[in-house]
Amino acid sequence: MSRDPLSAAPSSSSRGAEHTLPLIPTQTLLRGIARGADVRTEIPGPQSVALRARESPYLAPGTQALSQLAGLAFARGQGALLQDVDGNTFIDWVAGIGVASIGHGHPALSQALFDQASQLSCGSFTSVARVELLQRLAQLAPHPSLRRTQLFSGGAEAVESALRLARAYTGHSDVLSFWGGFHGKTAGVLGLMGSEFKQGLGPLPTGHVLAPYPDCYRCPFKLAPASCGLHCVDFTQQVLRLNATGPLAAILVEPMQGTAGNLLPPAGWLPAMSKLAHEHGALLILDEMICGFGRTGRMWGQQHYDVHGDIVTFGKGVAAGFPLSGLLSTDAIVSAEPWSRPSFSSSSFGGFPLAAAAANAVVQVIVEQDLPGHAAAMGARLLERLRPLVDKYPIVGQVRGQGLLVGVELVCDRGTRAPLPKAQCEEIFQRCLRRGLLTMAYAPRVRINPPLCITAEQIDESAAIFDDVLGDVCRPMARGV
Ligand SMILES: Cc1ncc(COP(=O)(O)O)c(C=O)c1O
Repeated sequence: MSRDPLSAAPSSSSRGAEHTLPLIPTQTLLRGIARGADVRTEIPGPQSVALRARESPYLAPGTQALSQLAGLAFARGQGALLQDVDGNTFIDWVAGIGVASIGHGHPALSQALFDQASQLSCGSFTSVARVELLQRLAQLAPHPSLRRTQLFSGGAEAVESALRLARAYTGHSDVLSFWGGFHGKTAGVLGLMGSEFKQGLGPLPTGHVLAPYPDCYRCPFKLAPASCGLHCVDFTQQVLRLNATGPLAAILVEPMQGTAGNLLPPAGWLPAMSKLAHEHGALLILDEMICGFGRTGRMWGQQHYDVHGDIVTFGKGVAAGFPLSGLLSTDAIVSAEPWSRPSFSSSSFGGFPLAAAAANAVVQVIVEQDLPGHAAAMGARLLERLRPLVDKYPIVGQVRGQGLLVGVELVCDRGTRAPLPKAQCEEIFQRCLRRGLLTMAYAPRVRINPPLCITAEQIDESAAIFDDVLGDVCRPMARGV
């Protein structure tokens, strides 16, 4: 059997915590390319166009805007690089929206999947892979008490289970979540999403209370972080008092908001939410779907705020492309009935051997390669390259970030902070694509979350492309064209 170079066994050169070393074994580099962006055809190229034309009569609408705008069909990936079916190579600032933690085409993941699928794929019985995974998760948990895990296959499913668990444990009904928060699209969590997205999809379950997230760049109270005294905390208390219909079961929050634009709350806010939850006899559910497993430069986003959840939900990067999610909690909380009764929190794909093997391999790579440490170093490097853009271009309002969770505000006017219109954002997105950089710049709050294994050279090259593209877009504006 001929062996694709991308599925080669992990090499010892891919291990180690040297942040300056390339994390991609050289023998597994993508066919015919070096280590960076390389665009050889028009974008999208003829093969992408042809493949999408074949697909479009059969594909139901509603798929991700990013893929529709790009119009590309990808064939393979390696580390932080993606190669399309025309042979064009892109530096990936998206990572499947924070999924490809260890990078694309990682041999440890393909090998683990191959080995496990050759033996046993499904079922909920104990497997070596699940035992090892659960042990690893308990060791890595943000607090030693969070040693119990239940596994699922999608993020929304894990968050819904966390809500059922919180209600079972507290006997309370209501849940507080935040504007801009995203926890999935299933009916049980849709109402907890603080965005216009849910309009037209009601009626939704009751018992949901929403309050403003501390979006300090566009503070809903028009206050400044240095002098606001965390007014949003007092306001949230009022919201709870006046809007809740029953006792509070949980506060559900992302430690840093991903979908809303990679937003970082001010110091003190997350601990205040923890205190508020406990004052109400409720649990703090920290949704680490995007922040978890090294993205922010530490294993968990919450570790930046000296707080830990009573329940922590995770997914995405934990299995780097294989659908696995889960929740972590304490002995006492997971014992709550009816959640803990046999089959009350299980599912067809909850911790089945194939998923467990995938996550086990991925988590091992994250730890052994110190990807949180690498993300901290690469994130700092990226911020160093992007922060000067605020002074260089009038359309860059703010650059912020923690590790490889970076946000850029594109604005029409730095004074009013009015978001850059969609058409101009899409122009930036398309120009980046034509230069070999896949971004989320189609919206004014540009989220940058590349694979955690991105190299220093790829950081420098991608930041330079983004800088050049902003320059190209701003020049005609400056001439009033
Ligand atoms: C913080 C957070 N929670 C939950 C989800 C839902 O995950 P899934 O799309 O796997 O259902 C997402 C997805 O982006 C997320 O970002």
